[in-house]
Amino acid sequence: MIEIKEVSKTYHQGKISTKALSEVSFVVNKKESLGIVGESGSGKSTLLRLIQLMETPSTGDILIDGEPTSKWTEKQKQIQKRKMSMLFQSFNLLSNLTVLDNVILPLKLQQRKDLDKALELLEFVGLSEQKKSYTSQLSGGQKQRVALARSLITNPEILLLDEATSALDDRTTEEILVLLEKVKKSYEPTIVFVSHDLDVIKSSCERVLIIEKGKIVNETRVNQKKVNSMSESYSEKAMRVLSL
Ligand SMILES: Nc1ncnc2c1ncn2[C@@H]1O[C@H](COP(=O)(O)OP(=O)(O)OP(=O)(O)O)[C@@H](O)[C@H]1O
Ligand SMILES: [Mg+2]
Repeated sequence: MIEIKEVSKTYHQGKISTKALSEVSFVVNKKESLGIVGESGSGKSTLLRLIQLMETPSTGDILIDGEPTSKWTEKQKQIQKRKMSMLFQSFNLLSNLTVLDNVILPLKLQQRKDLDKALELLEFVGLSEQKKSYTSQLSGGQKQRVALARSLITNPEILLLDEATSALDDRTTEEILVLLEKVKKSYEPTIVFVSHDLDVIKSSCERVLIIEKGKIVNETRVNQKKVNSMSESYSEKAMRVLSL
């Protein structure tokens, strides 16, 4: 279980301070799919980087299985980081490596190599035939499939998705969401999916937090009923779309 406890984050650039998060508290339960929705600049990516232990809170703490990570050594943080994988909007693949070498890269960085596992994951994402292609030869949807295979090679307990479908068209988004359902069934990771796209979150998460200007302003369980009207603010729309 991950607990975000009264976390604030302020960035300082010269004389300018930006408060990206204010007193944010919530829990991510093991094996749940938690969505976080909010407008651009609301603090979503900051929150994911804190969960990923890539940044530290200005105040507050991130507890993992009850342990405050602020007290952890670098070694302990490193071990935890290896249990997490992140998927980005921009895929973050290396264009000078083949599809197969991109998938196997996280293991190589840990001085490990498991060719069979990489091939199995390429099969899983439906890209076995492209294993020797370079990523520049792939479509956006195919690139995100490679990134998904790469994210799974370390058997992550936690999968973090930062606008992972936001660069894709509707049909390709749907394909990635179908694949994500397959990932949930096969690997049962804990998922934190951050997006401004309510439909994407609605179809992939069971519980959703709504973030506005660095604060969690609402939380809802997702209801699968159809929605067809609009309301004024983003937060109101989010509550209506997700909880109707
Ligand atoms: N490294 C940084 N240095 C300074 N300010 C930052 C940094 N990262 C984020 N911010 C600021 O913190 C606020 C939250 O940014 P963040 O990237 O978390 O928002 P977001 O919800 O992910 O937005 P988007 O939907 O556009 O990706 C913004 O005002 C942003 O400018
Ligand atoms: Mg972001």
